[in-house]
Amino acid sequence: MSEPLYPNYLPNRPEGFHPTVDVPYFDAEEPGLRADPAKPHLTKAGVVIDHITPRIGSEVAGVQLTSLTAEGLDEVALLAAERGVLVFRDQDFADVGFDKQREIVSHYGPLHQHPTMGYPEGTGPEFHVVYADEKAGNLRNLLGPRTSYDLWHIDQTFTPNTPSTTFFWVLEKPASGGGDTAFTSLTHAYAALSPAFRGTLASLRLLHTSASVGEVARLGTERALREAVSTTHPLVIRHPVTREPSLFVNPAMARAVEGFLPEESEHLLKFLHEHIRSLDFGCRVKWEPRTVVVWDQRCTAHTAVPDFRDGERRHMVRMIPYGTRPAPAFPELHTTPQ
Ligand code: SIN
Repeated sequence: MSEPLYPNYLPNRPEGFHPTVDVPYFDAEEPGLRADPAKPHLTKAGVVIDHITPRIGSEVAGVQLTSLTAEGLDEVALLAAERGVLVFRDQDFADVGFDKQREIVSHYGPLHQHPTMGYPEGTGPEFHVVYADEKAGNLRNLLGPRTSYDLWHIDQTFTPNTPSTTFFWVLEKPASGGGDTAFTSLTHAYAALSPAFRGTLASLRLLHTSASVGEVARLGTERALREAVSTTHPLVIRHPVTREPSLFVNPAMARAVEGFLPEESEHLLKFLHEHIRSLDFGCRVKWEPRTVVVWDQRCTAHTAVPDFRDGERRHMVRMIPYGTRPAPAFPELHTTPQ
C-alpha cells in the first residue's frame, strides 16, 4: 500500500466511548445575513462563478478561501445558501494547518464535535476525517451488504441548532477515479411538490436522532439507541438566510413523523426520501487535488458515492459549524408547540 500524502491527517480516536455531544439550544448568528447582497468579494474582476446546474451548485474560480476577509467569508455563506453547494478548485486550504482551518470554519459558528469519527492527532473531534484504504476498507463496509450504497443525509441534525455552512476538502482522491460527492437541493425538491401536498407537509415535525444509520453501524443498535440524543424539527423549514422553504428530511437520522403511527411515517418518508434523490435537483462533485467544497446543510442533502476501487485511498476532512435552530416555513400550520 502506498504511503498517504497527508499522514498527519490520518484518523485517530482514543479508545473508549465518547458520548454524543448534547448541545443545548444557543443563540447563533447567520453570517450570510451580514453579507453585502452584491457580494463584492465574489464578483470582483478575476472571479468566475459557473453554475453546475441552474438549480444547485456553482464552481467558483479566482478566489482563495484562506485569503478572504471576514466580509468575504460572509459572502461565501450567502452564496452557499443561494446555490446549495460551492466548489472551489486550486485551494491552499489543505496545507494551511489545523489552526487556520479551524479559524476559518469557526467564522460561521461553533464547531460540531463528532461523537465517533476519527480526527488528526493533536486536534480534536471538530475535524471529521472520512478515510478509506486497503486496511480501513471502502465506505461501503460500514453499511454491510446492500444493492446500492448511496446514503443521502444532512449531517448531525439531532440538536436544536443544526449544521450550517460546512467545509469539506480532499487530501487524496482514489487513484482510479470515482468517490465523488453528490448533492441535492431540498429547496427545489420542495418546490416540485403540489401545493396541496406541500400544505400537508408544512404542518409536520420530524424526530431527528443521533442513532443514525452510521452510528448504529459504528456502535451497534442497542448502544446507539441507549446513548441517543434527539430533537424535533419542522419537516418544512424556512432557510434563515434566503427565506426559501426547504424540505428538511434526513434519511439517515430523521425516521419518524411526530404524531404519526410507524407505518404512516414509514410510507410518507419512503416517498420523500426517493423524491429528494431525483437528478432533477441534484449535482455531483468530482474531486480534484486542492478542491474545497462548501455547502449549506439547511437546503442541501448529500451522499458520498463510494464507487471507487476497493483498497484505494480516499482521504477527506470535514468541519461543520452550527447555525440557528431551523424555523418552520409556515408556523401558522403547526399545531404542536415550537
Ligand atoms: C459526508 O457524508 O459528509 C461525507 C461525504 C463524502 O465522503 O463524500
